[in-house]
Amino acid sequence: MFRPLHGLLAAAGLIAFSVTPSQARDVEAGRAKSQMCGVCHGPLGISTAPDAPHLAGQPALYTAAQLKAYRSGARKHEVMAVMARMLSDDDISNLAAWYASLQIEVQPPR
Ligand code: HEC
Repeated sequence: MFRPLHGLLAAAGLIAFSVTPSQARDVEAGRAKSQMCGVCHGPLGISTAPDAPHLAGQPALYTAAQLKAYRSGARKHEVMAVMARMLSDDDISNLAAWYASLQIEVQPPR
């Protein structure tokens, strides 16, 4: 169940990488850029604002797709549109890499 999906995501990543070889995917650069996001999404991607989603551990593919959707207007949100319009494609892939690199742990309810 998990493996085919993983393979698919890896393949998608390879395709995206070969189409846009300039994409940096630099976790350190993403961490630096994420400082302006931390006000709402938390310094380690666990949100501090009740209306902002957690980003820690989110697959890079998903985070990058959402940021591009906010930037293009395909996904609508006033604040996130303003944030996303300040980001280049490299910024987006670096930020997505940073949030994907954060380790999260969940526990069942007690
Ligand atoms: C002022 C608060 C604020 C700041 C600053 C902010 N965000 Fe957000 N962000 C939000 C809110 C609120 C939402 C939920 C929007 C919605 O309902 O679509 C959101 C949604 C998102 C999502 C979609 C998550 C999902 O689960 O679909 C991503 C990705 C995201 N933000 C990334 C960022 C990044 C990267 C930055 C910095 C460049 C940033 N945000 C800065 C408030 C903020």
